[in-house]
Amino acid sequence: MIAARSKEDIIAAARIEEVVADFVNLKKRGTNFVGLCPFHTEKTPSFHVSPSKGIYKCFGCGKGGDAVSFIMEHEKFNYPEALRHLANKYNIAIEETGDANKDQGDKMVKDSLFIINQFAQQYYHDNLSKTSEGRNIGLAYLKERGFTDEMKKKFMLGFALSEGDAFMKNALMNGYQHELLKKAGLITQKGNDDIDFFHSRVMFPLLNLSGKVVAFAGRIMGKDERAPKYINSPETEIYQKSALVYGIFQARNAIRKEDECFLTEGYTDVISMHQAAIENVVASSGTSLTPEQVKVIRRFTNNITLLYDGDPAGIKAALRGLEMMTEQDVNVRVVLLPDGEDPDSYLHKNGTAAFKEFIRINKKHFLQFKTALLLTDAGSDPLKKADVIKNIVETLAKIPDTVKRSILIKESSTSLDIGEQVLITEVNKIKRKQFKKETGAPAFEADRLYDDASEEKSPSQRNEAVEKDYYQEAGIIKLLLEYGNLEMEDGQKVIDLVLDEIKEAPLCNHDFQLMIHEMEELFKRGEAVDHHFFINHPEQKFRDITLTVIAFPYHLSENWDKKHEIFITTPQKNYKKDVVSTLHHFKLHKLMNMKLENQQQLKSVKGNAEDETHYMTVNMKLDEWISQLGKSLGTVTLSYFK
Ligand code: CTP
Ligand code: MN
Repeated sequence: MIAARSKEDIIAAARIEEVVADFVNLKKRGTNFVGLCPFHTEKTPSFHVSPSKGIYKCFGCGKGGDAVSFIMEHEKFNYPEALRHLANKYNIAIEETGDANKDQGDKMVKDSLFIINQFAQQYYHDNLSKTSEGRNIGLAYLKERGFTDEMKKKFMLGFALSEGDAFMKNALMNGYQHELLKKAGLITQKGNDDIDFFHSRVMFPLLNLSGKVVAFAGRIMGKDERAPKYINSPETEIYQKSALVYGIFQARNAIRKEDECFLTEGYTDVISMHQAAIENVVASSGTSLTPEQVKVIRRFTNNITLLYDGDPAGIKAALRGLEMMTEQDVNVRVVLLPDGEDPDSYLHKNGTAAFKEFIRINKKHFLQFKTALLLTDAGSDPLKKADVIKNIVETLAKIPDTVKRSILIKESSTSLDIGEQVLITEVNKIKRKQFKKETGAPAFEADRLYDDASEEKSPSQRNEAVEKDYYQEAGIIKLLLEYGNLEMEDGQKVIDLVLDEIKEAPLCNHDFQLMIHEMEELFKRGEAVDHHFFINHPEQKFRDITLTVIAFPYHLSENWDKKHEIFITTPQKNYKKDVVSTLHHFKLHKLMNMKLENQQQLKSVKGNAEDETHYMTVNMKLDEWISQLGKSLGTVTLSYFK
């Protein structure tokens, strides 16, 4: 593990404009830089880099972050990988922590598994040309299937001989340890002896994202009903079946370029499609797609098109994966192939042009697909149709993107033959329920955030108050993210001061509360509280909030700061003033809320002299505090005293 100190050194050294400039041609504009966004296709630059804030943000596709997250996004690295990349760029020696021996040991085991797999891959591949059994049986089979030499190389295909320990003997002779062969799952115990795991099978190496062999799948030749068609290596420290996406290494660039990933069921489908020059294709390896696999594909695109066999089992398998993908904001489309066909067989029968045309004509958004399927099942039974509508509404409510959701609601309204407004209302009901359950937010906030209603409501006063709370509180978060580690006049850290000040008036927003809590933990542990930490936070919500809050001023609407009396453009050198006034505004706002509440109470006890006196006293006290705070704030607060 990278030591915290090294992490800080790397982050401090990495200049966002330099890091980005390795990949993007940047032009200076004012104090910032602009360029063409590397994450989406554009002709005019909307990709902005702010050296002073150390962040980038694309106003076209919305991607943004700091130097570390830029490298993660661009190079598809994980967090430590990105840090190591930057350390390398800036010549920073990394100090390692944790159990160095164990880390080292784990790494050594993993490395040797990769090495042994690479050896095995080469060995199986060579069998195809260098042994007579390989030539006569393995190569002949691949030829019969119509795979070109180019594809055999590209997918590193191979052949396992029938002899019980042919591979093991060869590996031992080449100096590989017996233990390791076992650990890699390449040999297995039979009776008292160890023998090869794979015999008489065509070998398909399974590669990870960076092209290293993590395991093998072996296909039996011909039809033997007693043995499984494919067998896979057992899981190891480098092979987790549920996360493997077959073909992702060979397909990654094409997927990024086409912004679409075809998903098939079988290994041979992937290879045949590559042979037909359709390279943005991977396979889920027979089982229904797992969330881990979707995560891998999503690094390159949000558009997944399933190419599935049209038999009922295939359809069921398709439907299972779909709901989960929708929740991950993936656009899922489906092409059902004619019953009994897979892409490999279709291509061989009908050729590339016909295949592409078939996809073009039959590609359906999965919701259309699902609706049609369920409606056919329901027939003319009105009760069954009502169930279908309920089912579709539930799926619609899972679509996170508002724009996409409303387009799909419109489409569903047509295909289900039901009023759009009815669907909107039903979807909103579910979303509100979910939102309340997840956040414990009051109903009116749920309404504000999740309302697809086409009839635009003028914002009620209540909503305005909520909005105001929200922006005030966002101001506090911004303050902590930007200046949390800096010190005030008396040497107290800003984070310490703010935590102290808001103790009596905690924030209402649940996510903000969680973030503050985490900042407090960091502070207590003596770690830096800053936006770098939260920009790379595993929690999406935190990353989003952080980016919104610290994004460039012009990202926010013109009157945002004026309307909500939050100082968001103050340069860093004025931070002390900024801290004080933000806290003042925050407190003032809280006091005003208390005053309003108190006035309500006062009204409700009208006639009860004792209670009235109590609330009037409170009112006077509140007025006094408000006026004190107001004085130190100058004229800005006058609007509160109408
Ligand atoms: N599969 C498996 N184990 C099996 C059968 C299938 O792991 N016993 C997985 C393989 O990943 C296979 C996929 O499911 O590629 C689809 O199976 P199937 O359609 O039966 O095979 P194809 O890929 O079409 O292989 P082929 O064209 O060689 O018959
Ligand atoms: Mn097939």
